Amino acid sequence: MTDWKRTKYCGELRAADVGSTVTLNGWVNRRRDLGQLIFVDLRDRSGLVQIVFDPEVLGAEQFQQATSLRSEYVISVQGVVLARPEGQVNPNLATGEVELQVTRLVILAEAKTPPFPISRAEEVDESIRLKYRYLHLRSPELQETLALRHRTTAAVRSYLDSKGFLEIETPILIRSTPEGARDYVVPSRVHPGEFYALPQSPQLFKQLLMVGGFDRYYQIARCFRDEDLRAERQPEFTQIDVEMSFVDREDVMQIMEDMIIHVLEDVKGISVDGPIPRLSYQEAMDRFGSDKPDTRFGMEICDLTAQLSSSEFRVFSETAAAQGVIRGIKVEGGGSFTRRQIDNLSEQAQSWGAKGLMWLAVEENQVRSPIAKFLTEEEVDAITAAFSAEPGDLILMVAGKYDLVCDVLGRLRLALGRDLGLIDENAYNLLWVVDWPLLVYDEDAERYVAAHHPFTAPLDEDEHLLETDPGKVRAKAYDLVLNGVELGGGSIRITKRSLQERMFAALGFTMEQARSQFGYFLEAFEYGAPPHGGIAFGLDRLIMLLAKRQSIRDVIAFPKTVSASDLMIEAPGPISEAQLKELKISLKN
Ligand code: AMO
Repeated sequence: MTDWKRTKYCGELRAADVGSTVTLNGWVNRRRDLGQLIFVDLRDRSGLVQIVFDPEVLGAEQFQQATSLRSEYVISVQGVVLARPEGQVNPNLATGEVELQVTRLVILAEAKTPPFPISRAEEVDESIRLKYRYLHLRSPELQETLALRHRTTAAVRSYLDSKGFLEIETPILIRSTPEGARDYVVPSRVHPGEFYALPQSPQLFKQLLMVGGFDRYYQIARCFRDEDLRAERQPEFTQIDVEMSFVDREDVMQIMEDMIIHVLEDVKGISVDGPIPRLSYQEAMDRFGSDKPDTRFGMEICDLTAQLSSSEFRVFSETAAAQGVIRGIKVEGGGSFTRRQIDNLSEQAQSWGAKGLMWLAVEENQVRSPIAKFLTEEEVDAITAAFSAEPGDLILMVAGKYDLVCDVLGRLRLALGRDLGLIDENAYNLLWVVDWPLLVYDEDAERYVAAHHPFTAPLDEDEHLLETDPGKVRAKAYDLVLNGVELGGGSIRITKRSLQERMFAALGFTMEQARSQFGYFLEAFEYGAPPHGGIAFGLDRLIMLLAKRQSIRDVIAFPKTVSASDLMIEAPGPISEAQLKELKISLKN
């Protein structure tokens, strides 16, 4: 029998189809057996439609079959589209004005009782949903999210194609390189004792493609990083990876900005006016206490170090003397916070490393604050003036080392922004963060490490500081931030050998050591490397924001848990003795 095949998707039926005969294929979402009539909500990837089995129409034998239907049975039904009777229209369903009067039923597959109803998948424990991922995938939420993901990559491909970019694949089995996150490694059978690594990104290959003359490259690239996982991280994830030759920073930022604006418009109808605002890394830290500020709300950080450095209050004077900073944020209307609320904020600040959280509630002509007794009237006035504080406002202050104060205030600001409902959930705020530090000092390694990677070029005007003040050198690097999430980052690369040598020296390697790790790469640059630069966006993070999901796992068809396991296929898993033997690997215990 071949005439069971679909002529329409379930979710497509409308009032205009009334009277037509159609064949639908799908899963039984829900069944209501009223004895004389059976109603089923039939589901496919387009949505749901109500179908009706009536013994008068179907005949006894077919109706008998209909009584056997259970959730998740796969069926084909042919029937006539009817308008639903008066009063039975379902305004919550796109197909709610119609139903299908079934004239023929074919059961294509029976199904065991699923461990959870598909329509209530989001309510069950995530480990169950992940074990039965193929069932959760049937839910409208995941169907929509993965369709959105498809439309996004399609929009990216079409945009980049129109700009002359070539999509080129790069290898997955590569060589392990230190720096960056931990590598996933794969043992070689042919070369016992040797290992491939899975790429953390196609970085070196895309640069070699520039040396290879490809000029404009992109790839929807799978990347692998063995790092501690969080809500917006997966061990394998996807980048929209781009590299361009004969460009400077402005060119890369301009074309990528156009691409993102185009994609937002194309897939979500979100219109963002360019140019996307830019902040230097320094300004982002100073004003928002974060290198990926959420600029959907204000509550900017204010510095009071200069005004308070010679205070009698020792917390202030000692902080200033130790080259620290005194900074704070103002919570408008926060004067009404209870003591308990303030204590909670203080505990949070301490858990992030602050020695304490100082607070001043601004009232008519005075402030209420545990530290008021240590401050002169001029100092109190200086604080309230710096914040333009009004009666009813609350000022929260932290004193200490610059990085710590930025971090604590940045986190407090975000927590308060969320709790007080200051964030417009419908806003899409894009922001470039530029002029990143080139190098950061790693206390454990007791040396500078590359803030981005060792091939990132310094700003021309800072290059001379590479030997004398490496921590001050800024990079030709840029990150694109969307609503406080780092969407992507990239840079202009070093292509001059002399500069690359100085960079390695700043990282504490000799050229020989660098050659042992990146020999092929450095050699390639001796054969004529064009000036080039690029960027990579986290595709999963972009979809997570567009689909308004809280977890990156919700936007990946088959994700891993926070402990990097796949609960459905039970990976990672052991391999056989025979496999181990072939690889010449023996396991301890
Ligand atoms: P970077 O390491 O900044 O740059 O990565 C680029 C973007 O990839 C996303 N991302 C992740 N997404 C999910 N899970 C993860 N574990 C994860 N790690 C990173 C982020 C990030 O902004 N080769 C350089 C880019 C370049 O210089 O061109 C690179 O990989 O959204």
